Amino acid sequence: MTMHDRLHFEGKVAIITGAGQGLGRQYALLLASRGARVVVNDVGGDLRGGGYTAEVADQVVDLIRHQGGQAVASYDSVLSGEKIVETALATWGTLDIVVNNAGILRDSSFHKMTHEDWEQVLQVHLHGCFRVTRAAWHVLREKGYGRIIMTTSAAGIYGNFGQANYAAAKMGIIGLAQSLAIEGRSRQIHVNCIAPIAGSRMTETILPAEVVADLKPEYVSSLVAWLCHADCMESGSVFEVGAGYFSKLRWERSEGLRLPLAAADIPEALVKSWPTVLDFSASDHPESAEDAFAPVLKQLRTHQAN
Ligand SMILES: NC(=O)c1ccc[n+]([C@@H]2O[C@H](COP(=O)([O-])OP(=O)(O)OC[C@H]3O[C@@H](n4cnc5c(N)ncnc54)[C@H](O)[C@@H]3O)[C@@H](O)[C@H]2O)c1
Repeated sequence: MTMHDRLHFEGKVAIITGAGQGLGRQYALLLASRGARVVVNDVGGDLRGGGYTAEVADQVVDLIRHQGGQAVASYDSVLSGEKIVETALATWGTLDIVVNNAGILRDSSFHKMTHEDWEQVLQVHLHGCFRVTRAAWHVLREKGYGRIIMTTSAAGIYGNFGQANYAAAKMGIIGLAQSLAIEGRSRQIHVNCIAPIAGSRMTETILPAEVVADLKPEYVSSLVAWLCHADCMESGSVFEVGAGYFSKLRWERSEGLRLPLAAADIPEALVKSWPTVLDFSASDHPESAEDAFAPVLKQLRTHQAN
């Protein structure tokens, strides 16, 4: 693809969960306008995960069809991921793209958080991602092609007051995506996470009204389109995106402290050299579980050699 080619999705079938409004709606409109056949999935519930209406998904499907695109509505919860995948297969016989986007909020400071608030948020975000992706996985593996996007959040990456349930789910999603990126590699299934910021009903209570109005979901959808595209080789990555800002995150690890084994089980020896543990002046960027093991193994070998 050259810089001036338009991204196209002709022949591709995409599932977008939570596509009735907010960010998901925009992804559906963009992919459909570029030739994808889109399952517009949404339960049409309220922000806390209550209620149900077919109307929100139907409106997006109607708009796509009105604009000459192809779309079908799915009103199933992501917790019935198999049914959503079945809608794609029954309508178009195949599946190429899954955008896990559906979400709810049940914010509360941790000491007031009920088991129900914890459970519902984990269910929709983390288990929902699992259920939809698990149902899609065998289809994508068999065809040797797939593009999966999962939606994480700054709250998950950095933590946030009043969002322990949401943050746990969103960080869990990163672990899920990164493991699936490894498992999917040999079958050309690419899996990435985005941490978006956009004006929607999720952010309208925490951001000023004019920011919500200007921070359009449109400014996030280009990244989703690119990560869903056949030419994009990115996998196992996490991106922050919003208002035309696009960036990739990675882990940073301090060079670390190396204590002689004779001192490694003496807490005071660690405390004495604690600043070395925290010193990032000679850091590196581990990318795998193997990278995490490498310095430990090196340290052990050094001791064994002495
Ligand atoms: N808006 C932001 O700034 C922001 C920031 C970080 C992460 N996110 C994430 O982006 C995603 C989209 O958020 P949004 O701001 O567009 O929110 P939104 O509330 O506008 O849209 C979410 C949609 O998901 C649907 N949904 C909820 N539960 C569902 C279920 N069980 N099955 C199917 N559909 C369901 C809702 O009906 C709604 O239409 C979410 O995962 C959210 O956590 C958003």
